[in-house]
Parts: sequence; structure tokens; C-alpha cells
Amino acid sequence: MTEKNIVWHLHSVTKKSRSVQKKQQPCILWFTGLNGAGKSTIAGAVEQKLYEQGHHTYLLDGDNVRHGLNKDLAFSNEDRIENIRRIGELSKLFVDAGLLVLTAFISPFQFDRKIVRELVGNNEFIEIHMNTPIEICEQRDPKGLYEKARRGEIKNFTGIDSDYEAPEQAEVTINTAELSIEECADVIIDYLKSKHIIFEC
Ligand code: ADX
Repeated sequence: MTEKNIVWHLHSVTKKSRSVQKKQQPCILWFTGLNGAGKSTIAGAVEQKLYEQGHHTYLLDGDNVRHGLNKDLAFSNEDRIENIRRIGELSKLFVDAGLLVLTAFISPFQFDRKIVRELVGNNEFIEIHMNTPIEICEQRDPKGLYEKARRGEIKNFTGIDSDYEAPEQAEVTINTAELSIEECADVIIDYLKSKHIIFEC
């Protein structure tokens, strides 16, 4: 619904001023992939490195956000779309606040990820595809959810009876079966350096 009687208010402290104060180039590091692909683990490791280098960050994690802001949403396609829409808008606000935002959501649909990409400026959306094969994710099964889904105890489970559309042109693609946590985090940190989002300290 477009609101007719609501007018955008321009404030004097801007994204630019907040970014300059924080000495960083704000952006979204959007981790996407299956359950057990390593999104939260690697996002956490990257955030730790950024924090240690003095950057201002925030990590939005699917499971955590679903305990609060999005606790009214389940796993139908419609609810997943709304989940990602809200996280996109929230991430945009955090980018406006001058932060390096890391998001760890399955975010299974290409169209929804594209909408988030278009919410922010060029170079402010970095899609990171955690391209771990489903067989490995299922072997790991850290929360025992694949087992439950195979037994039919969880419906609409991504990769089993709910779709996952892999990115076609992610900025970074990582297979966590081939690299250690440290190496995966370094691939992403090196990418950020190569794009001058962060600098050598
Ligand atoms: S998304 O598809 O809407 O992006 P999101 O990342 O927020 O999903 O939540 C995924 C988390 O919810 C998983 O880490 C898992 O613990 C839990 N979960 C519970 N039910 C399901 C399901 N049917 N499909 C996928 N994940 C589920």
C-alpha cells in the first residue's frame, strides 16, 4: 500500500556523514545457502575479523531474527518472501547507519534477493553463495532438521520439499566442504579489500 499522507523527512546527519565518522564503506554481506551450508558460522567468523580490525558491524541471523522481529512468520513461500523483504529493509536502514551488515538467511528465491540488491546503492550489496552440496549439509545436519524433514516431521524444508534457487552471479561463492572456517572468512575479507570496502590496517 502506498501511503498518501506520509512525506519523507530529510535529516541533517546523513549516511555519508555516519560512514565518514566510522571510517568505512557501509554495505550488506548477504549470505545465502541451504541449512547447514555454513552461513551463520562463516558470517560470524567474518564479523569477528571485521570487529577486530575496528569496523562497525551487525550480524542479522535467520534463526535469531525469527525469535523476535519475524516470529510471526513460518516457512511457506509467502512467509519466506516477507521474511526477506523485512530483512532487506532492515539491512538498508543499517547501511544508512553506516554499518557493515552481515545477513545469514537461506533466502531461497532469486527474485527476493534481487529486490534487496536494488534497495541499496551499486556496490552496497555483496551476495555470498554458500555453495556447500546438499549431501554435505545433510551429513552435518547440525540441528537434526534434515532427519526430521526426511521423516516428514517438518514440511516445506529447503532442498527437500521446498525450492532453493542458487545465485547465478554471486560476488563470492564458497564451498565450505573444501575450505576451513578461517580460509572461508579470509576469501571474503580478501574480496572486501579488493573492492576497497575495507583497507589493510
Ligand atoms: S528463509 O528461507 O526464510 O530465508 P531463514 O534463514 O529465515 O529461512 O530460517 C532458516 C532456519 O529456520 C534454519 O536455520 C532452520 O533452523 C529453521 N527451519 C525451521 N523450519 C525450516 C524449514 N521448513 N525450512 C528451512 N529452515 C527451517
